[in-house]
Amino acid sequence: MTDRRMWKYFDRLPLESEANIVTLGEGGTPLLDASATIGAEIGVGSLVLKAEHLNPTGSFKARIASLAVSLLRERSLAGLVGTSSGNGGAAGAAYAAAAGSRIVLFTLSDTLAMKRLEISAVGGAAFRVDGVGHDAASTRRVADMISSAARAANFYPMLTGYHYAPEAMAAVETIAFEIADESPGLTEVYAPVGGGGLLTGLYRGFDRERAETGTAVPTLVGAHPEGASALPLALAGDASGMATPVTSTVSGLQMAVLFDPEGAVSALQSSGGRSRAVSDDEIWQAQHLLATRCGILVEPAGATSLAGVIADARDGRLGSRSHVGAILSGAGYKDTASLARMVGSAEPPVISVTEVGGLLENLLVSHEAGV
Ligand SMILES: Cc1ncc(COP(=O)(O)O)c(C=O)c1O
Repeated sequence: MTDRRMWKYFDRLPLESEANIVTLGEGGTPLLDASATIGAEIGVGSLVLKAEHLNPTGSFKARIASLAVSLLRERSLAGLVGTSSGNGGAAGAAYAAAAGSRIVLFTLSDTLAMKRLEISAVGGAAFRVDGVGHDAASTRRVADMISSAARAANFYPMLTGYHYAPEAMAAVETIAFEIADESPGLTEVYAPVGGGGLLTGLYRGFDRERAETGTAVPTLVGAHPEGASALPLALAGDASGMATPVTSTVSGLQMAVLFDPEGAVSALQSSGGRSRAVSDDEIWQAQHLLATRCGILVEPAGATSLAGVIADARDGRLGSRSHVGAILSGAGYKDTASLARMVGSAEPPVISVTEVGGLLENLLVSHEAGV
């Protein structure tokens, strides 16, 4: 392996032998500087975007799946079994295929079509379960059943929370290692929150980095849709989740209960951070801004951290002394309906060959001459 990417941190990950690594090139994602564009517009000192949507399976979950399937190989386990809103499943299925192993997934009933295709195209078996994600009791019940069945049958639990799969989740910490290596002076880092595993892993990673290299831990902010409020409930001491179903339409963040309530609360409290609610509308606006100002296409969940940054800047919580990082967690191709909503009716018109000359004259030559 010439470019080790995430596996550059092999020594900090819970795998015994490098010979068992199953990789598709995960990690080592770029930290893109948006200070001169969005950063300047919203008045923060600097703004960097961690491009996790560029991972092999289009989300940060590729890191977790790489480690999960490597552990599976090291332990000669029978396969993977898990829940998913789509991205964890797509990642698990791809890495299982790469290792010649099998995966069984129980996904949200309204998992996006593209995420379902990603799972099936690489040979993953999936069932859509009513209530999972959307209501707290069903989500916990199914996850707990999977976790104990996995243990009994020698399967690895592809449940992306420390509560269920603490070793595989250590892969999330490598996002923080990479950010701390490249941009050690960040004051705040914003992360989207569904089950809370990403937020928990980021804090653990930054805290390990502090212990090993002395780099200060940035303040962590958990951005979540208004209609998926398990994080503020947990912060207020109620880890049992929402009493009513999720109303947000943001795929990946539709979680009525946190998988990692203790980890997420401790990440915010120990780093002096907070939760930040944003509407689905604000999330779509941030997605649109990333596309049109930076040329970056993410799915709505992937723009949620930036929506949080924008809302906090507007409310005066961030300013010229803030050096902000935002995690872009999932790729735009996964949610084609959200791209269609962004574009509206602005589809390219169909024209004839004879019209091309006139258009070139009008659009390029006259423009060049300043007409
Ligand atoms: C694109 C994307 N962003 C964020 C999240 C939320 O991560 P977590 O459940 O670890 O909070 C998910 C979870 O599926 C996701 O797919």
